[in-house]
Amino acid sequence: MQTDVLLGLQWGDEGKGKIVDVVTPAYQIIARFQGGPNAGHTLIFEGKKHVLHTVPSGIFRKDAINIIGNGVVIDPITLRGEIEKIEAQGIVVGKNLLISRKAHLILPTHKILDKYSEESKGQHKIGSTLKGIGPTYMDKTGRNGLRMGDTELASFKEKYNALVSKHKKMLGSYDYKSLLDETESKWFEAIDFLKKIELIDSEIYVNKALAEGKKILAEGAQGTMLDIDFGTYPYVTSSNTVTAGTCTGLGVAPTKIGEVIGIFKAYCTRVGSGPFPTEQNNETGAKIREIGHEYGATTGRERRCGWVDLPALKYACMINGATQLAMMKADVLDTFETIQVCTHYEINGVKTEYFPYDIDGLDIKPVYHAMKGWKTDLTKLRRMEDAPKEFSEYIAYLERELNVPITILSVGPDREQTIIRKRIENNFTNRIPGACNERPFF
Ligand code: GDP
Ligand code: IMO
Ligand code: MG
Repeated sequence: MQTDVLLGLQWGDEGKGKIVDVVTPAYQIIARFQGGPNAGHTLIFEGKKHVLHTVPSGIFRKDAINIIGNGVVIDPITLRGEIEKIEAQGIVVGKNLLISRKAHLILPTHKILDKYSEESKGQHKIGSTLKGIGPTYMDKTGRNGLRMGDTELASFKEKYNALVSKHKKMLGSYDYKSLLDETESKWFEAIDFLKKIELIDSEIYVNKALAEGKKILAEGAQGTMLDIDFGTYPYVTSSNTVTAGTCTGLGVAPTKIGEVIGIFKAYCTRVGSGPFPTEQNNETGAKIREIGHEYGATTGRERRCGWVDLPALKYACMINGATQLAMMKADVLDTFETIQVCTHYEINGVKTEYFPYDIDGLDIKPVYHAMKGWKTDLTKLRRMEDAPKEFSEYIAYLERELNVPITILSVGPDREQTIIRKRIENNFTNRIPGACNERPFF
């Protein structure tokens, strides 16, 4: 059996949480492989909204095992809060959540270092979520980090103190004392609370499950354009958000990767600093933000909004080896007369079809292909045969350009507002209950 992967193709917040929740009935295991509480994955069903940061989005589905893999960084305080909120919904969190011993811990001082680092960058700040992600991954690669498995050791407190004293030296005269005092005891209480969750050697668990024929879905966080290697560096996160991250973040061999489902919005958003060629810093962007409720699920910040960017999407499909696509939030464009799609960029009058290296220092002009809007309420659409012609044309155009079939369409935030386009030859969509018997135009 192989591991399917579902990940973002843009700058995050594409709707990963919603789709993971929708497709979970087709899987036995849902596993996060990177990122941490910088993620905010929203699920809406039965009139309730849930936001997950560290817990995989399969947690609300009966019988699914959710794994927090070795590539994830964990803030015990956030994770405890998430578990308590889930339990308040009547879901017992026990055997349905497992944590890798090798997942790294975010210490209170990592969060302070994140704040300190952002403040010292001034106008070049990344716009980090300030959850301690960068400093924790730095300690991981610097071979200083603390891992979940360390909490089982008698020397845990000693290891903690050694790392914290390193951090204090780095912070120098920075005023960290009150920040540290505020969180340190809560952090240790949360570590105790998490003792009720089983720690596993997740790479062994996952590979055994695959050998037994179990179906696994790896849930990405952030998006391809925030990848530490392939994103818009330095305005990125600190992990590999792409398909390859599944291999290192779960211990799954490349030969064991199955379907790669890339998610994108029918338009594009970005939160935090950094290049965004198709950004509409105008009325159009404001309209998308208002209709699409484009405010961060983790930080509440306004998301920057703009049109779909084909060069960036093509790049993301290439890096991830996307085998199918999910297009989200088409309903947000319901009232638009015209929808623009960026087909390429012009840099100093020269046509460019991919994201240039030093985008910040360049005068980059996106070139658009205008398409007629569908001017129809899509939120109740459940079958593509009932779709307005212009919507079908928009999908067909994107499929042709990206050369990957769009098998999932989302027309509203609720679980139910989803169209799965079944493909005879595709065992992924065929396994999802309620998949309609339609072939993509591809
Ligand atoms: P994630 O980080 O990729 O899981 O995405 P977020 O949860 O951060 O952001 C996606 C937002 O869009 C959430 O508020 C979802 O409830 C919402 N959403 C998801 N799909 C749709 C859709 O098809 N239409 C609309 N209008 N909202 C959607
Ligand atoms: P999900 O999983 C959108 C952005 C931050 C910032 C940059 C670095 O919900 O899609 P970090 O805290 O990682 O140091 O921030 O990355 N960022 C996200 N943007 N969605 C996310 O996650 C993000 N996680 C980080 O805004 O620009
Ligand atoms: Mg999000």
